[in-house]
Amino acid sequence: MCGIIGYCGHRPAVPLVVEGLRRLEYRGYDSAGVSFVQGGRLSVIRAEGKLSGLEKKLESQHVFSATSGMGHTRWATHGPPVEKNAHPHLDHSGRLAIIHNGIIENYQEIKTELAQKGVEFRSDTDSEVLVNLIAHCLKDTGGDVTRAISKALSRVEGAYAIVVMSVDHPGTLWATRVASPLVMGVGTGENFFGSDIPAFLPYTRDVVFLEDGELVRITASSWEVMETASLKPVEKKVNHINWDVQAAEKGGHKHFMLKEIFEQPKVIRDCLLGRISQQGGQVRLPELDELPVPERLHIVACGTSYHAGLWGMYLLEKYAGIPVQVEIASEFRYRDPILPKNGVVLAISQSGETMDTMAGIKLAKGRGLPVIGLCNVVGSSISREADYVVYSQAGPEISVASTKAMCSQLAALLLLTLYWGRRSGRMAEDDCARMLRELQAMPQMLEEALPGLRAKAQRLARHYAEATSFLYLGRGPSYPLALEGALKLKEISYIHAEGYAAGEMKHGPIALIDPHFPTFAIALDDEFFPKVKSNLVEVQARAGEILALTNEGLDLAVEQPWTLPRASGPLAAFVILPAVQLFAYEMADYLGKDVDQPRNLAKSVTVE
Ligand code: G6P
Repeated sequence: MCGIIGYCGHRPAVPLVVEGLRRLEYRGYDSAGVSFVQGGRLSVIRAEGKLSGLEKKLESQHVFSATSGMGHTRWATHGPPVEKNAHPHLDHSGRLAIIHNGIIENYQEIKTELAQKGVEFRSDTDSEVLVNLIAHCLKDTGGDVTRAISKALSRVEGAYAIVVMSVDHPGTLWATRVASPLVMGVGTGENFFGSDIPAFLPYTRDVVFLEDGELVRITASSWEVMETASLKPVEKKVNHINWDVQAAEKGGHKHFMLKEIFEQPKVIRDCLLGRISQQGGQVRLPELDELPVPERLHIVACGTSYHAGLWGMYLLEKYAGIPVQVEIASEFRYRDPILPKNGVVLAISQSGETMDTMAGIKLAKGRGLPVIGLCNVVGSSISREADYVVYSQAGPEISVASTKAMCSQLAALLLLTLYWGRRSGRMAEDDCARMLRELQAMPQMLEEALPGLRAKAQRLARHYAEATSFLYLGRGPSYPLALEGALKLKEISYIHAEGYAAGEMKHGPIALIDPHFPTFAIALDDEFFPKVKSNLVEVQARAGEILALTNEGLDLAVEQPWTLPRASGPLAAFVILPAVQLFAYEMADYLGKDVDQPRNLAKSVTVE
C-alpha cells in the first residue's frame, strides 16, 4: 500500500529518495515525507497530498549534504490523511525515525503502556507507537539499535515493512518485514531499500528479496541479513533482474490487472488484519460497535461494487437474518425510495468518489438514515460523508477494470455478516468460528490455485477467441459472480456478454442459444447444482457449447469443464472470482486489447 525507499551511499540522499518516491507513485498515496541526518540532527519533512507538496517544502531547505535518508508515501490505514499522520515518524526523544507499511494489530495495548511511562504521541498512527517501542527497548540494549528492533518486534503482532534511522548512526539504516513487501537493492558503494523494485531501479538491478522475519542493516558499503528474532546471520542470494521500469511497477506482470488478480490472496489477508479476535472465533469491527445491528439494510453501489453488494445480500440474509435490498446508485437516487426509519444504508465503493453512490448517500442522510461506507480509498469523499466507515484494505488499484477491490469487498461483506450475525445472536459461535477459519485458509488455497487457473484461462481464451457473445449463468450467490464475469469480459475484451440468473434464462436468453453462442456457467458442488445442471441441459438441447466452472466428481457433461478447488458455501466466491477475471483477462490479452485502460471507461466516475 505505502511506498518505501531507503538509501545509504555517496549521492545526495534527499533528491534521490524523492525521485524514488515518484517512481512508486503508481501505488497511490495521500501524503509523503523524508528523513535524513544532517549537522547532527535527525530531520523529518512531511507534506499532505501529492509529492509536489513535499518537493515544494524541500525547496526552501538545504538538504543536499546528507548521503543517507529514507522516504515514504502513505496510503492511509490508521488515522486520516493529514500531515501529522504522514511518515517518517520520530520517537518522542527525536533520536529514531521510522517509515512503516502495514498494520500493527496490537498497537493500542502498546500505546497505552508507553503512555503510562510518559511517552507523548503526536499522531493517530500505529507506526509512531512502533518507533517509540523501539526507542524504549534501546534502554535495555545499551543503545544497540539492531537488538532494540529485534526486541520490540518480538512484542508486535500484525503486518509490517519498516525502515529505521538513528541520529547516532547517520550512515546506517535497518529494515525488516512481516507480510508486507520489502526488497533490498545492492549497488556499488550504495545500498537501497524499497517497497518495490522501481524505487531504486535506475541505480541497480541487483536485488535481494527479503523474507518475513528477516532484519537487514545497510551502510554505503555493507549489508547484512539476519533473523529478526535470534539475530543469527542469514545467507541471501543477489538476483539480477532484467525488468524495465514499467515491468517493475507491474511486479514483472504484463499488466496491472494481472498483478492485481494475483494480489488477491494478500488482499484477503490484509482485509482480515486486526479484525479477528485473538482466540479466532469473533469478528472485531470497532468502527461499527456503536451502531445497533441494522433491522433493514439498503446496499447502494455501482459497477463491480454493486455486484459485490448483491453477493453480500445472499449472505447477510441467510446468516445474519437482515433483510437486504441492493440498489444501483443511479436508480436509487432518483427513485424516491421508501426508506423505513429502522433502515441503514451501506454504500460500497472502491474509489469512494463515484458521484451516483455519493448522491445515494446524501439522499439517505437527508431522510435521517445512518450510512456506512465500505470504501477502499481512505479519506475519499464517500468515506468522509458516511457516518461509519469500514475500509476494505485492498491497496491501490490501478487497472481500470476492478478485480482485487471486489475480492476485498467480498471479504469485508463476509466479515460484516459474521459480525452482525453474532451480535444479533442469529449465528452460532461455532459456525462463525468455522467460517472465519475457512476464510483465513483461503489466501493459501488461492496462492496455490492461481497459476493453474491462469494456465487454464489461457487455453480457453485461445479456444473461444472467435466468439462474439457469451451468456454467463449462475444461481444463488454465484449469480452476482456471473454478472461480474460478464462485466469483466465486456469491459476489457469488448465481447458482448450477458450475465443472467440461471433459472431466468428460459424466459428470454434461451432464444439466442445456437452453436456460435457459448455459455459460461457456474455449476459448483452446492445446493443449487441440480437446478443449474437442468438449466445447462436446456442449453445443450439447443446445441449451445458450455464452459462451466465446476468441482471434481460432479456429474456434469459439458464441452469445457473448468475444475476449481473446492471451497465450502459462500467461500466459493473467492475462487470463482479470479477464474472469471482471468478468463476475461486472457481473452482481452489474446485479442490484443488495451487491458489496463479499456476504451471509454474510467477508474473513478465522478460525473452522472
Ligand atoms: C467505474 C469503474 C468500475 C467500478 C465502478 C464503481 O465504472 O470502471 O470498475 O466498479 O466505477 O466504482 P467504485 O469506485 O464506486 O467502486
